[in-house]
Amino acid sequence: MFVDSTAGLIPPIISDTDRQLSWRLSIVISYLAPPTPLVLFLSSHLHLTMKTMKALVTTGDARFVLADVPIPVPRSGEILINVAVIAQNPVDWKYLVIKSAAAGKIIGWDFSGTVSQLGPHCQNRRLNDRVAGFVPGGAFAEYLVIPEDLVIVLPETVSFEDAARLGTACITACQCLYQELGIPIPLDEHGLLVDEPILIWSGASSTGQYAIQLARLSGMRVVATAAPENHEFLKFLGADEVFDHSDSWTARKIVSATAGTLCMAVDCWSQGMSPNQVSSSLDPRGGRIATVLPYASRTPFIETTCVAANSIFGQDTSFPLTTTGHTSHVSNGIAYCKLISHLLTLTKLKFPPAKQYPRGLLSVLEGMEYMRQGKVHAEKIIYRISDTPLSKIAKYMYGL
Ligand SMILES: NC(=O)c1ccc[n+]([C@@H]2O[C@H](COP(=O)([O-])OP(=O)(O)OC[C@H]3O[C@@H](n4cnc5c(N)ncnc54)[C@H](OP(=O)(O)O)[C@@H]3O)[C@@H](O)[C@H]2O)c1
Repeated sequence: MFVDSTAGLIPPIISDTDRQLSWRLSIVISYLAPPTPLVLFLSSHLHLTMKTMKALVTTGDARFVLADVPIPVPRSGEILINVAVIAQNPVDWKYLVIKSAAAGKIIGWDFSGTVSQLGPHCQNRRLNDRVAGFVPGGAFAEYLVIPEDLVIVLPETVSFEDAARLGTACITACQCLYQELGIPIPLDEHGLLVDEPILIWSGASSTGQYAIQLARLSGMRVVATAAPENHEFLKFLGADEVFDHSDSWTARKIVSATAGTLCMAVDCWSQGMSPNQVSSSLDPRGGRIATVLPYASRTPFIETTCVAANSIFGQDTSFPLTTTGHTSHVSNGIAYCKLISHLLTLTKLKFPPAKQYPRGLLSVLEGMEYMRQGKVHAEKIIYRISDTPLSKIAKYMYGL
């Protein structure tokens, strides 16, 4: 469903002041000044010096366009990534529909790609390093910038298609397990919690799949929930027991299976019946739930804390959650990126099965609709940037 929108395209909003000035000067010179030879020279020169890229950009009315926008410039401590593969998260469509995103923002969080430029004072990354991760908006583009330490460095054995599926989900799983529940970091043999139970509710979600694997690597006994068709898959990932998340008896079955000793849970669904079901699965004497959407348990002595993946960037956030920037969340984010890199070199992580769409950025609308309709089951939607048929297209507008 593509609509030619050449006429209605909004000018991009960019963060870098100098390039913004250059962009605006160029537009002003092109469209307002009489076309004298000098004006034509200045206009074309400014356009040529400002390199552009293709990106999916919000229009301010729950839609996005494929547009030419300036390539971002890495600031101190940041790196420029040439994006290879992007992956989709629920936050991507929520940003458009629930947040009612303002116009001119590049959408998308998860990516993998190659370091193509180092900003000033970068010390830890090198040109051509293969990396993955997420940015809180800005990934569905040919290039993005990110702090050099907030990327997962990839071993050669990991493809960009696999690595794009790590970002938000894997780092969120780390935040839930280590930051909020305080379980030991995997591979730290002195701190393993052998056989202590943990519940991963909605274990087939991308976040849940990583939470199961990481909790297992910490030596925990993993109890998970999912639709029955995913039970064998979650056991393959490391779950010891799996129950049906839609069965109203599941909480009672979990209490029975854990002899009422379960004190920790990650609720990767955090809506509908899950707040009640997860709370009821825990030891009534007290327990703790790390959630992905905010809620307070109605059960006495059960505490909940909601993680915010984008808190690793250390700034106050207003979407998807309102949070206050915290330096410890930045250092945790850096540590989780290093941990994930290390686990990849040891081939200790399995990626959610991929559902790859064929036309790169031009397939994103289709993928968004598929996800918004609740059709994602134990899979991660990915798009290869190089699959975008750019040669045939000028500009298209999408609508959700
Ligand atoms: N706070 C944060 O920073 C943060 C970070 C990441 C994600 N999130 C949020 O966490 C949620 C999960 O994200 P994700 O990317 O991991 O999800 P996802 O991979 O898109 O989740 C898909 C899974 O959801 C499960 N599901 C569907 N209906 C369910 C229900 N009624 N009860 C339990 N599970 C159900 C399905 O499991 P079955 O196939 O087994 O039915 C499906 O496999 C989203 O709401 C997302 O916005 C928040």
